[in-house]
Amino acid sequence: MNEFLWAVSTSAFQVEGAYLEDGKGLTTADIRCEKKKGCGTSVASDSYHHVEEDVALLKELGVKAYRFSISWARIYPKGNDADINEAGVAYYRKLIQELKKNQIEPIVTLLHFDVPMGIVEEYGGFVSRKAVDDFTRYAETIFTLFGKEVKYFLTINEQNVMSISANMQGIEEADTKKRVQMLQTANYHMYLANAEVTALCHKLCPHAIIGPAVSYPTLYPATCDPQDVYAAYRLEELMAFAPMDIYVHGEYPVWYLNYLKDKGITLPIEEGDDEILKRGKPDYLGVNWYCTNAVKAGTNEAMTSLVDFAYMQKNPHLSYTEWGWSYDPLGFYMALRKCYDRYHLPVMITENGWSSREELVDQTVHDEKRSAYLIDHTNEMMRAMQDGVAVIGYCVWSFIDLMSSGDGFEKRYGLVYVDRNETDVKECKRYKKDSFYTYQRIIEENS
Ligand code: BG6
Repeated sequence: MNEFLWAVSTSAFQVEGAYLEDGKGLTTADIRCEKKKGCGTSVASDSYHHVEEDVALLKELGVKAYRFSISWARIYPKGNDADINEAGVAYYRKLIQELKKNQIEPIVTLLHFDVPMGIVEEYGGFVSRKAVDDFTRYAETIFTLFGKEVKYFLTINEQNVMSISANMQGIEEADTKKRVQMLQTANYHMYLANAEVTALCHKLCPHAIIGPAVSYPTLYPATCDPQDVYAAYRLEELMAFAPMDIYVHGEYPVWYLNYLKDKGITLPIEEGDDEILKRGKPDYLGVNWYCTNAVKAGTNEAMTSLVDFAYMQKNPHLSYTEWGWSYDPLGFYMALRKCYDRYHLPVMITENGWSSREELVDQTVHDEKRSAYLIDHTNEMMRAMQDGVAVIGYCVWSFIDLMSSGDGFEKRYGLVYVDRNETDVKECKRYKKDSFYTYQRIIEENS
């Protein structure tokens, strides 16, 4: 049996920095973060220039694996260039070699929110079917270059989030109806890309396993009013289980097709697509899990036009981060049970963590709440495993402080503090927080 993968996670645009160095092209993540927070991806946590130091910290932490993503635009700056960018390849080769030298398994995500702007400007990115071929070609390059060293691949991070976020896809359409249609077209193409790449991995890297990483916030009904129970059930199906069903079963569920049809959305289906979707069954499911939400039937102005029947409410029984993410280890147990009972596929917790605003005091951070979160959530995970759920790994989000996807650098997730703030990138020096030692102990006690 393979060793359980106690691990930590990051993603390229959130930690690397060097966003235009050594030939890298711009991505939708670079543009989105710059517009949103101003602190941008140009330096992030400066991991591009801290490879040895960061791997030494991973080693000291005692993790068995490190989940990171490869930036497509470092390998092919525009996404579809004729030639590979060798400098980009050299960076990931160095990182992977350093990890292997220290007996740390790389868990490689192929796409984490950063679609190359080159293909977005040329043909609209995933809104065009051309992106399926370009993504498959990029994945083939990665499998060929690193397939011998890497045993764990993830295809696309949180396609279910990308499917409702126009700026993650580089879509700038003001008309809501047209925008939602474009997002669903892109989403369909990403399912094809996911399946193509999964099948290709099975062919080129038979010793490796591959799966998607899905965002799964477990949803509770806000009350036992059947309208609320139904709204929570429908929303969870729509946001999390429809995507997982499509990955695992290779087809859109009938109720989901009906739902899209009712919304006036058409899918760009071509002959032979059924076979493509069925071709790439995942070996495992990556699950990004942070919190639970309470759902109320009805509408409010925060809802997207795709979801017009339910909205989220605060759960009075739970505590929250400043950004409204709840602390709910029991919800984690239930999420694991639900995923496993539904698919009977091994699960890897690809993200789980706690965010807060933090400052360095005497060269450390006393992040008790994060430590408690890690203890409570790993305990619930182990209880789920004792109850039969096949969990193959657990990745804390995040290894070091990084640029939050939605909220810049002030929202910190790391076990390691990175000394910079929104406006001053300083030298990005690393300091171990208390939670670093908590997780180290969890690993030691449970390995
Ligand atoms: C997941 C993403 O959605 O959640 C990460 O895969 C992200 O990239 C994480 O950082 C937390 O979200 P946020 O917006 O708090 O950074």
